Amino acid sequence: MASTSAYSYLHKSPQDVLNDIDFQLTLEPALLTKLTKAFLEEINVGLGRYGEDMAMVPSFVTGVPDGSETGTFLALDLGGTNLRVCEVVLNGDKTFRLRQQKYKVSDQLKTGEATVLFDYLADSVDAFLTTHPPESPLSPDAEVPDVLPLGLTFSFPVEQTALGSGTILTWTKGFSAKNAIGNDVVKLLQDAFDRKHMHVKCVALVNDTVGALLSRAYTSGGCILGAIFGTGTNGAYLEEVAKIPKLANNPAAAKGGYMVVNTEWGAFNNKRTQLPFTPFDSVLDRTSINPRFQAFEKFISGMYLGEITRHVLLSLIDAAPRPMLFGGKATKVVNEQWGLDTSVMSEVEEAWETRVVEEKEKVIKEVDPNGTEPRSFPGEIGENPNLWDGDDHDILPRWDILSTPEGLAQLSLKVKGKLERVRKVLVSRLEYADGDVSLRDAAIVRWACHLVARRAALLSGVAVAAILLQTGRAGFVQDVHSDSSLNTPNDVPKVNGANGIHVTDSVTNGTSKNAAKEEFEEKIGVGVDGSLIQFYPHFERTMRESLRSIVGADVERRVEIGLAKDGSGVGAALCALQALKQEP
Ligand code: GLC
Repeated sequence: MASTSAYSYLHKSPQDVLNDIDFQLTLEPALLTKLTKAFLEEINVGLGRYGEDMAMVPSFVTGVPDGSETGTFLALDLGGTNLRVCEVVLNGDKTFRLRQQKYKVSDQLKTGEATVLFDYLADSVDAFLTTHPPESPLSPDAEVPDVLPLGLTFSFPVEQTALGSGTILTWTKGFSAKNAIGNDVVKLLQDAFDRKHMHVKCVALVNDTVGALLSRAYTSGGCILGAIFGTGTNGAYLEEVAKIPKLANNPAAAKGGYMVVNTEWGAFNNKRTQLPFTPFDSVLDRTSINPRFQAFEKFISGMYLGEITRHVLLSLIDAAPRPMLFGGKATKVVNEQWGLDTSVMSEVEEAWETRVVEEKEKVIKEVDPNGTEPRSFPGEIGENPNLWDGDDHDILPRWDILSTPEGLAQLSLKVKGKLERVRKVLVSRLEYADGDVSLRDAAIVRWACHLVARRAALLSGVAVAAILLQTGRAGFVQDVHSDSSLNTPNDVPKVNGANGIHVTDSVTNGTSKNAAKEEFEEKIGVGVDGSLIQFYPHFERTMRESLRSIVGADVERRVEIGLAKDGSGVGAALCALQALKQEP
């Protein structure tokens, strides 16, 4: 397996090597703003034409729910880590009940013949119906009452042609099933149901981001953006139909109003002109199954962060003339492509986190079993500012301090305790022998994880900021100071009018200042899902930091990020409901 070229520090000190990597993986606020501008451009190019990198897929979902919807539906969700089949009961009071079963999708299924994959999907629905016979009668299909309606959440780029049909554009996230691209995904699934004579009809097709947006709107009463930060990353938002020129000849264009658009933002800057690629990113891309695709996603999502970090670590393990990490040893986990799971990074960062008060005694015992060191934490108060403490502002490892017994002796007990916790995680998760991992190694790996994850969260902020700008809810922070009118939201779509359909408040400059202020101060609902945003330490905090630097603290404060719980299932159910209502 190709690896990143090893560092040579013949003419550099080890500290210079670390500084160099730190520099490459650190993003400055000015770059975030520049990227957001490029992102906005791609949004508008994609709204204008079919076939662009950022596909900006019209979903044909033209209203968002308000929580009063009712019905019982089947949902099938393909595109995350597992395949899920669910039965969703919408109670009509912003609540729902959901029963689900997860099924594994093997690599063989992901990369084999599409018909085999879709047969497996149909078998899974069949198995679910056998083990979970419907509790309440499923909302009948108006046309054929004994057929069960199903909503499909299919989280890959699809050019949707109607609520219930769409052509697969590309595979992402490790899928590459043959003879699928260019075909209608709903037909592929329906054919599989029909081959098995199942009384199930796929009536709606939805991306997981659209599902997140709809389900968050259903449970919270307002949401403008649904975003996934998990295995992959993507977002869907409510756009004015008038701003989607490529819908020109579609009847939807004549109806006007708003439509949910699935951005497929994972493909932002596939041309690689703006994103801050490092050698670690390039080797990941080159050795992935979709080189030159999903450029943005490869910087951000859970599928890739572990692999980027693995390449950073390998470059230090292989550094010449002397290794800089793990004494030059590599385990199977570290050697294998995709061997380092993003969850390891999360554990490493958690291990570092301060839980000093509860852990004080434990740490003292771990670090100092004989009780010979003073039982105090010099790192907490009155600490020598010249000492390396590894905290957020001082995370870059100090090679001199961490490389000698005298240097290590200067570290506070608190810092040693944290490093020891990280060291233990590395021994167990990277499968090293205890003696092969030093405290310096722990400091280096934790720094590498933090850099890669922080970069991901900052870039996630770029995507969210771009949607706020695109929908007129924000201005660039530097423009705001020079021209405050940029920050006045004209024609801001207000979600959740009567019947769950958005209404538009046209705010005229000057005449209704109070209304503008009120509107301006409204919360901006963002529904999110995915393992990174849910579990990675400080992911949301860092994403908000990015938002503040791009669109300012006033706007960032109003952004209400909430979990779109079971978004894929509930979103598919809500779409199935809309599809049945639309049936002639
Ligand atoms: C990938 C898919 C996209 C999906 C996202 C999150 O980017 O292309 O459709 O929404 O992953 O699952």
